[in-house]
Amino acid sequence: MSQIYLVANWKANKTLPEAYDWTTKLGQASLPPAVQIVICPPFPFIPELHQLIRASALPFVLGAQDVSRFESGAYTGEVTAPMLASMVDFCLVGHSERRTNFGEDDGVIAEKVAILKKSGIEPIVCVTSEKTSIPPGATFVAYEPPEAIGSGNPEPVSKVIAVVQAVQAKGVGNVFYGGSVSRENVASFLKNAGVEGLLVGQSSLSVDEFISLAQAASF
Ligand code: PGA
Repeated sequence: MSQIYLVANWKANKTLPEAYDWTTKLGQASLPPAVQIVICPPFPFIPELHQLIRASALPFVLGAQDVSRFESGAYTGEVTAPMLASMVDFCLVGHSERRTNFGEDDGVIAEKVAILKKSGIEPIVCVTSEKTSIPPGATFVAYEPPEAIGSGNPEPVSKVIAVVQAVQAKGVGNVFYGGSVSRENVASFLKNAGVEGLLVGQSSLSVDEFISLAQAASF
């Protein structure tokens, strides 16, 4: 049984104490060893959670939800890849919420992928269909159809299979699915859709729900 990734994408939710409690509680749960959990908190929580994970030797890694397209310099408000590199293993890039609300296009996303790679962070490039451009060097891709995100209506597994295969045919080794993944449907995606991992938004906010989801992640 190979490893699968469960990515908790909290989006713009939680306070620092809530983030700390969530991570502590997850660390006390009994979880399947083949599941690698990637926690993607908002930027300000990353240092504290990094410290907690290290100090308590928790088997989780961190991811960022976004990164600057610039490496450093006069870019007020930006968080850069070199700032994140000692704390995160992964970074989401091009989530449809960023494409829609912040005008990110394929060019910006390709710049972010290049800068993350240079800093030793693995980008997880979010695509909305098999037609979305995948920048060179991207080895982790998450298929997230916008109508399935946060809607409670996940994409049918048969459709996910088709897109996963199309993305794999472009040479991408790790294809994830995201969009209304829940404890009820997690196993069907892992068993039947050929994905290497899942992005979980809404169902990652309550730690009890996320623990049940992780425990149901059989394949
Ligand atoms: P959802 O979000 O699980 O709430 O649908 C997934 C995502 O946007 O990554």
